[in-house]
Amino acid sequence: MINEKFSKIGFVLAMAGSAVGLGNAWKFPTMVGNNGGSAFIILYLLLTFAIAFVAFLAELSIGKLGESDVVSSIYKLAPKHKKAWSFSGFFMIGAILIASFYMVVIGWILKYIYLGFSPLLSNQEEAVQQFNTLLSNDLSSAIVCFSLVFLMVFFAVSKGVKSGIEKLNIWMMPGLFILLICILFYAISMGDGFVKAAKFLFVPNFSAITPDVILQALGLAFFSLSMGVGVIPTYAANLPEQTNLIKSTLSIIFINILIGIMMGLVVFTFIFAYGADSTASGPGLIFISLVTLFAKLGIVGNVMAIAFFVSLLFAGVTSAVSMIEPFAYYLVRKFEISRKMALVYIGIFVYILGLFCIFSYYAQTANIFSIFGKPVFDALDFLTSNIMMPIGAIIFSFFVGYKLKKESLYLLFGEFMGKVFFEIWYFTLRYIVLIAICAIMIYQIVGE
Ligand code: PHE
Repeated sequence: MINEKFSKIGFVLAMAGSAVGLGNAWKFPTMVGNNGGSAFIILYLLLTFAIAFVAFLAELSIGKLGESDVVSSIYKLAPKHKKAWSFSGFFMIGAILIASFYMVVIGWILKYIYLGFSPLLSNQEEAVQQFNTLLSNDLSSAIVCFSLVFLMVFFAVSKGVKSGIEKLNIWMMPGLFILLICILFYAISMGDGFVKAAKFLFVPNFSAITPDVILQALGLAFFSLSMGVGVIPTYAANLPEQTNLIKSTLSIIFINILIGIMMGLVVFTFIFAYGADSTASGPGLIFISLVTLFAKLGIVGNVMAIAFFVSLLFAGVTSAVSMIEPFAYYLVRKFEISRKMALVYIGIFVYILGLFCIFSYYAQTANIFSIFGKPVFDALDFLTSNIMMPIGAIIFSFFVGYKLKKESLYLLFGEFMGKVFFEIWYFTLRYIVLIAICAIMIYQIVGE
């Protein structure tokens, strides 16, 4: 046997570990902040349940019915044109591409944990300077931190599904949760800021919703649930028998949303308590605004900063691990090489690409490492989040909706969701999901 299977709780934690990641801490609050707060959250929830949940189950069925790596599972399940269909499994390369820039960001997080042990900068300009220096001038820090993260992630994957990935998640996911709860309690004690943050997150302002915002929310739902790049089928192939697939999926989605909202509450409490700009975007929100706000709390702020960045480290590492596993699993099965050997090949690729991402922000090499005028880092983020993940999700959904037998899907899901819900799910998968993702992608390409 190549892989030991997950335990039931191990599967839910590992899949939630994959879902909960930097997306929840970095993309989620940023997009909420830029798009009018709670209306965006409502839209996000709607799209998560109406579209992402449906497509998630489709991906799950590929892994569960195929019981192999993504390419072989699709090959096995396709009724005709097996070879052609199995190529769609290579969308898992998207996960490897994400891993390269994602681990660079986890590297920055590692650096900020280290910075948490000395006085933090409370002056906004200095904090901007500090962050920019890390990206554009301090090559050695960026590379050392990235390399440490790289080693940590690959070490965990090398131990296999049960003793590596499951074990890591069983420690890190509760760890992340406890740390966040502690920070949240502190945030609640800040009174006014917390109330403002809660209002911002929960009182809807629908005027902020435009087609572009809908696209962003759907993109976020896909990114956040690790869809379209083979993670879900791969983890599902290692599911124990008799797992309640619906309950597990709902738990995963629930944990993902919960942690996103907790992160949002923490970030915006600090932002509102100190009157910082809630529309600051991207990493700026976390690495600059939040740090200057923590700095105002003195030593308590240092503790908060360390706890916050450690929780981000946990969230990030458990996601990064899930990006490597699909391709590793494929190489091991297809070429009958050892897991370690497979990881050496993948590792070389990911490491080099990660360095390219770092160089693409480094002042002296930035113009060499750019594609279509974008730094390699941003280009990879765009290519994977906005193109590969939605297209991968479309193909997987289409495959399950139109190529798999309805009876085998019913056998898989029927006992957990009943006939009526199964029919609704099947209909949504075949018509609504595909139309929605296509429409949004076309809108994105054609523009307004
Ligand atoms: N879901 C992860 C996050 O929110 C990112 C991810 C994407 C993980 C694709 C695996 C695959 O950060």
